[in-house]
Amino acid sequence: MTTDDLPAAQQVFAAAFLEVDRLGRRWNDPEPEPQGADAARTWLARMDHLLAADPAGCVVAEEDGGLVGFAVSQNRGGVWYLAVYAVQPGIQSKGVGKRLLDAVLDHADGRPGIFSASAHPGATRRYRLAGFTLHPMMRMVGRVERSALPVVQGLRDGRPDDLEWMDALDGRLRGGGHGPDHRYLLENARLIVSAAPDRRPGYVYLDEALGRPVLLAADDPGTAGNLLWDALAHTRGETLVDSITVANDWAVDVGLAARLDLDQKGYLALRGMSEPAPYLADGYVL
Ligand SMILES: CC(C)(COP(=O)(O)OP(=O)(O)OC[C@H]1O[C@@H](n2cnc3c(N)ncnc32)[C@H](O)[C@@H]1OP(=O)(O)O)[C@@H](O)C(=O)NCCC(=O)NCCS
Repeated sequence: MTTDDLPAAQQVFAAAFLEVDRLGRRWNDPEPEPQGADAARTWLARMDHLLAADPAGCVVAEEDGGLVGFAVSQNRGGVWYLAVYAVQPGIQSKGVGKRLLDAVLDHADGRPGIFSASAHPGATRRYRLAGFTLHPMMRMVGRVERSALPVVQGLRDGRPDDLEWMDALDGRLRGGGHGPDHRYLLENARLIVSAAPDRRPGYVYLDEALGRPVLLAADDPGTAGNLLWDALAHTRGETLVDSITVANDWAVDVGLAARLDLDQKGYLALRGMSEPAPYLADGYVL
């Protein structure tokens, strides 16, 4: 994949995931909408970052000179993740996806792997056949009940000089630091940390445009809960706490106390590692 491929990849992504949303739509869900211009711009910027950080993990499939599928994966120290993977609807089920996944798994070179998997039947089939365990994920949705917010102390906004201990914490939780992904997130989201000498370390990013926490890691569930409460306190309208695995039910307890509703969506796919905890993965940089 090169940067010139990104606009065509975005088109394939938008078409494939509109179909995923349509297939997975429940009776009371709104009609799925195509990706809007702002979301497409954010997606392209994110892919640009990943392509620059580890280009060898990013591959495309072409037919008659046109891009029909792609996979964006990354090695970060001792861990490999799959950020995005899609094949154009109409071309699916013909083995293109298998060839793409085989190529990016070669790049992983035996590293433990992690990614957020859709419930698309072709995707789940491919992942399990490639040896990944599919851990069902929960999510909490709604508006935070502000009268439930506890007083949380000992947190502050994060800075570039926090990234070193954050990478070390990631290493303990998922086998590798986020490295360049932290630098990207720091530019695009608000970072809140627990970093005083007498406190257990932890961090959470708050995507202020989306109004929700996007990646959380902590040394212990108490610190994780404080970080999540603080992030939720900064949200205003509808929010979402995503990527909650069973090992992270501390996040369900916080969400219920904040009067968010519990829902279920997708899987955390893992190979060669157990569920990171206390940890809420980001959907792209895991
Ligand atoms: C996941 C995806 C990239 C796989 O690409 P693909 O070209 O369809 O993959 P393959 O044809 O190599 O393999 C898919 C397998 O699932 C099966 N499959 C595909 N679509 C299916 C469907 N709707 N229902 C049941 N089985 C399906 C195929 O028959 C094939 O199985 P087989 O090789 O044993 O016959 C593609 O289906 C896709 O883009 N899905 C939507 C986006 C998505 O969910 N991406 C993954 C996000 S984590």
